Formats: sequence, structure tokens, C-alpha cells
Amino acid sequence: MSGIVYLNGEYLPADEARVPVLDRGFIFGDGVYEVIPAYNGKLFRLDEHLQRLENSLQATRIPSPFDREEWRAILEALVRKNGGGDQSVYLQVTRGIAAREHGFPEKVKPTVFIMCNPLQAVDDQVHDAGVCAITLEDSRWKHCDIKAITLLPNILLRQQAVDAGCTEAILVRDGLVTEGAASNVFMVRDGQIRTPPKSRQLLPGITRDLVVELARQHGLDCREQDIPVATLAEADEIWLTSSTKEILPVTQLDGRPVGDGRPGPVWARMFAIYQDYKQALREA
Ligand code: PDD
Repeated sequence: MSGIVYLNGEYLPADEARVPVLDRGFIFGDGVYEVIPAYNGKLFRLDEHLQRLENSLQATRIPSPFDREEWRAILEALVRKNGGGDQSVYLQVTRGIAAREHGFPEKVKPTVFIMCNPLQAVDDQVHDAGVCAITLEDSRWKHCDIKAITLLPNILLRQQAVDAGCTEAILVRDGLVTEGAASNVFMVRDGQIRTPPKSRQLLPGITRDLVVELARQHGLDCREQDIPVATLAEADEIWLTSSTKEILPVTQLDGRPVGDGRPGPVWARMFAIYQDYKQALREA
């Protein structure tokens, strides 16, 4: 972390930002977050990210510290103070600082912390070769639609994938694919694109929604439909989507090639559509 961060009303150098140890984010993981990309200094799909943030705050009963316009002003100022360009903006709201007691404290002010990191474009080599994934049992709780900072299960699952030499863990609950440890999952079979429908078992990814929207706009057959793990194993293509990785082709699943083991034609088309959409935003 470097540059200027936002903490509770102040913009200050990252190494000067301090949060008290009794912050419930530190003690309980009691908070929610967002990761919002900015391209050429412009926040990408900001309304959608702020809507999801409001949903997460409401679900965790943390009072929303700002309205949409206030969030927008703070985020835009922070991106500017960090030099604009391509950034990944991390925003976290915790319930605040209080003596350690599980029940909610009575009078407490949410802690708001925001930082920017340079957004590294995914290497061309990664797009040429694709990445490797493994399937794992989804060991998380039953509110995965909340973007909670409490990420221990996601971290442990991702590390299992890393230990296996892979990029991502694709999670399976009751025989159905939910999502990746930090991404959503798409598959292609016979030209048809499929992604699991939204539910409490997965995060409603902003990238996921945009991919669905753009695919349909461009006449591609894209369905929100359950993916049994056995169906995933027979996919011609598998993709992972997230704000920081955009659309990543998975070319190896559980040690076996996906399709012919190379990024597929539907991915290439979708990736080009996505890049065009981003480019239009950059130039707007
Ligand atoms: N994570 N599912 C999970 C569990 C995630 O953590 C993420 C993103 C996504 C994709 O959502 P979006 O398209 O809105 O980025 C799906 C972020 C990038 C992170 O934790 O760093």
C-alpha cells in the first residue's frame, strides 16, 4: 500500500493511517467492502458498486455513513490524489470501535477506510495460455451474497488452489458450482454461455453482471442457470470474472485440459467486447 488513503474524513499518506485495535473489523471481521476499478481515472460501474455496498451494509445492519453523492465525491477525490490512471480502489466499512462484546455496541460510528492500488493489467501471456483451477467443496457460510471482510474461508480455499499450482479454486456446494474464491464462474458448451443464477450462495459480481449484459447485447446466447460440477467438467470453455482480473480463461481444471486446452473462441469474442466497452469509458 502506498500513496494517499482516506480514513474517517481525512486524506493522508498510507503509512500514517492508523486504526485502533478495538475496531470491530480487526477484532471480529465485522465489516463489508468493495473493490472498484478506475480506468483513466474514471470509476467503473460506480453506481452498481455503491448499490452492492448499500446492500451489504443493510444486510449487516451497519448504518450507511454516506449517501451516493458523498461516496462518489470521496472516491473521485482519492483517485485524483493518487494520480488518476488505472487504479483498483479498495473501500472498507466496519461497524466501528467498541469494547469487545459480540452484540452490537449502542453508540458507535462506522470506520471508513479507502485505498488505491495501481491496477495491473493481466499479462498477455496469461490470456494466451489461460490459467489452471481446481474444484473444491464450498466451505463458506450461507450469506455469500454479502461482500463481508470476513474472508478466512475464501483465503484458505484460494491457498489450497495455490498449493496445487493453480490460480483459483472453483467452489461447489451440493453438487452445483457457486463461484471462485474471489471470482464468478462462467462456462461455454456448444456455443452457449452459462453462469449460475444469483442467490445467497454467491457474490453478485459487477463484472459477472456486465458480461451477461454485454453478451446478450451482442447476440450471444447467455443463460443464468445452475452448473452441476459434472457439467463443468465437460465444458468447452471456462471463464473467471472479477473487477481486477476482468475475464480470465481457465484452460486446465482438476489436472485435465478444458476443451482443447487453449482459451476458446467465445472467450476471445467476449474479451474483445469487454475491452471495447472499457475503451469507450476511458475516452468518455
Ligand atoms: N473479489 N466472488 C467473490 C467471492 C469475490 O471476492 C469477487 C471479487 C467476485 C467478483 O466480483 P466483482 O466482479 O464485483 O469484482 C466474485 C474482489 C475483486 C476482491 O476480493 O479482491
